[in-house]
Amino acid sequence: MIEFESVSKIYPSGAIAVEEFSLLIPSHSVCTLVGSSGCGKTTLLRMVNRMVTPSSGRVLIDSEDIAAADAVELRRSIGYVLQSGGLLPHRTILDNVITVPVLKGRKGSATRAHGLELLELVGLDPAIATRYPAQLSGGQQQRVGVARALAADPNILLMDEPFGAVDPIIRRELQTELTRLQTELGKTIVFVTHDIDEAFRLGDQVVVLRSGGHIAQQGTPEEITSAPADSFVSDFVGADLGGRRLHAITESDRTVIVDADGKPLGVLR
Ligand SMILES: Nc1ncnc2c1ncn2[C@@H]1O[C@H](COP(=O)(O)OP(=O)(O)OP(=O)(O)O)[C@@H](O)[C@H]1O
Ligand SMILES: [Mg+2]
Repeated sequence: MIEFESVSKIYPSGAIAVEEFSLLIPSHSVCTLVGSSGCGKTTLLRMVNRMVTPSSGRVLIDSEDIAAADAVELRRSIGYVLQSGGLLPHRTILDNVITVPVLKGRKGSATRAHGLELLELVGLDPAIATRYPAQLSGGQQQRVGVARALAADPNILLMDEPFGAVDPIIRRELQTELTRLQTELGKTIVFVTHDIDEAFRLGDQVVVLRSGGHIAQQGTPEEITSAPADSFVSDFVGADLGGRRLHAITESDRTVIVDADGKPLGVLR
């Protein structure tokens, strides 16, 4: 369980990134934080692994204040997936995946074998293990990023717009894959996105943010879509569009249903 207790973050520049933010994220659930650029999503995420220190308030993991934990150890015990994939360009795919176990002093064949298993788990052919990041597609790199975050077998996975840089079809595949993985692994996942559809698709709990990390509404996707708290939320959700105009696009062997913005919602078989 992750708890934010009235956390605020004022950067040295004076920017108030987050103000009095409180939230409880139950273990083994997916919480999506969704909001426009600059509303404080990354700041909130990085407070969980102490890459950002709150100016006030506390963050607790399983009721322990993380301020008392060893920062390096904490960071290595929490999986973190960045928007860019964040892979080390001069290391092979396998070396990228097992970065944290190796930092923890675990080398050897068992660690490498586990790395190969993780590649398979995220839907990659282990044969790519000896390649370098630049030799992979954007979607494959994102999967490697997820495998790397899982390598230390963390209970908590922080994901910062991990699928932002890939095209809509691959993005949908990665979302489906993450849902499958989560069914299997049952991690506590905090997932940041500015895409409301992605937030609804992945989140058990969705938190819609305004600027300053203020919560406009939180609840299940059903609760938010059926009763948006105010016009900010309904605008963001697009509920006031009078139902989204759906249409079908046929590409190669499949038909994809997309909404008015061209975002894919599903595949017809
Ligand atoms: N290191 C920093 N120093 C000063 N201000 C910062 C710093 N990091 C973020 N900010 C400011 O804090 C606010 C919140 O930033 P944050 O990166 O958390 O937003 P975000 O919701 O993740 O945005 P995006 O969707 O663009 O990634 C912004 O106004 C930003 O300019
Ligand atoms: Mg961000």
